Amino acid sequence: MGTDFEIIPFDPHTATDELWTLYFDQTEAAYREYEPEDPLLSRAKKKELTLSSLPNPYRNDYTYLVLAEGGAVPAASASMVVEAPGSPTYASNKHIGNLHGLSVSPKYRRQGLATRLVAHILRDMAIREPQVTELQVPAALETGHKFLERKGGTVSLVHSENRLYLKDADWAMIERWDAEGARRNPGTEILTVTEIPETDLQDYARAYTETINQQPLGGLQMKMEITPDQIRYMEKKSAEQGTVHTTIYTREADGRVGGLTETSYLGDLGHVARQMLTGVRQEYRGRGLGKLLKARMLLHIRREYPGVKYIVTGNADSNAPMMAINTALGFKKHLPVLLYTLKIKPELLK
Ligand SMILES: CC(C)(COP(=O)(O)OP(=O)(O)OC[C@H]1O[C@@H](n2cnc3c(N)ncnc32)[C@H](O)[C@@H]1OP(=O)(O)O)[C@@H](O)C(=O)NCCC(=O)NCCS
Repeated sequence: MGTDFEIIPFDPHTATDELWTLYFDQTEAAYREYEPEDPLLSRAKKKELTLSSLPNPYRNDYTYLVLAEGGAVPAASASMVVEAPGSPTYASNKHIGNLHGLSVSPKYRRQGLATRLVAHILRDMAIREPQVTELQVPAALETGHKFLERKGGTVSLVHSENRLYLKDADWAMIERWDAEGARRNPGTEILTVTEIPETDLQDYARAYTETINQQPLGGLQMKMEITPDQIRYMEKKSAEQGTVHTTIYTREADGRVGGLTETSYLGDLGHVARQMLTGVRQEYRGRGLGKLLKARMLLHIRREYPGVKYIVTGNADSNAPMMAINTALGFKKHLPVLLYTLKIKPELLK
């Protein structure tokens, strides 16, 4: 039986309830394939978060759904994110299309559907974002690796999700790192905030930009920058969405920001906290600030959010200094994700 497929844009702001249901059926099943056990965010909250995060002045988001059986059944989906002209790194990164969440329902695989969907998206991008010349695509599953290799993609980075189950953490060591760090740095102030104070905002943004660009990125060619405006934008969004974005950073005796670490926590998904960037500026390294910041954050999470069972973080496998700290804390590899780069060639649009 030949199945007719229809590819449609999924616009969260105009989608009907029926379309939202098809979208959730598709994307939740795709998520379950590599994460069979984790609790899912309720659909109502997920919808609220999606609506509140769009539009975003720093990025353009496009989502596509493939429907089968006369529109009654979801067969595939994918999303594309491209930096918007308002982004501070637009000039450096505007050629990159971040293709994520590409999934085809098992029943419809090996019929060329992902190939058709990618071609459709690229033709759409040629009109909407003609400056995009290459794709970055994360793939956690073997089927994704095979597909991307067939399309001519190459692995630019292995960026794994690592997890620390709090029951396995070495709390005695964590308390020691915290105490020793404070003792070795008597002139250092350690601040725990959900909003970066105005006095430190400019320097905090510089410290963040400096350290995030020092992460190994393998073959990826992209720049990262955070501006004070973006920090304020993100703080406002977090407050609106009910996400607690906690930053712990140091203010050194010379008044500069020495190091920082940040996490986010959403009460609706209270079993997990997400660890984002940890960075210590070059000139303040070797004084135990990295360990101090990580330890202080873990103690903070244990105290404030007793429902948290684990912390997730994403690191390049090649990031030796961060991996050393995380491994000592008890972080374990949970899900290796290969990040592919795929140059857009005419045959991909056919
Ligand atoms: C990866 C995925 C999207 C491919 O969807 P699909 O519609 O089956 O892909 P296509 O039919 O267009 O495949 C095109 C080519 O890719 C390669 N390929 C795709 N899946 C493959 C597999 N499981 N094993 C080996 N090669 C595969 C083949 O060369 C295939 O051509 P062929 O069938 O003529 O041999 C789908 O398997 C999926 O949803 N996997 C889970 C999610 C995932 O891994 N997504 C990662 C993002 S890429």
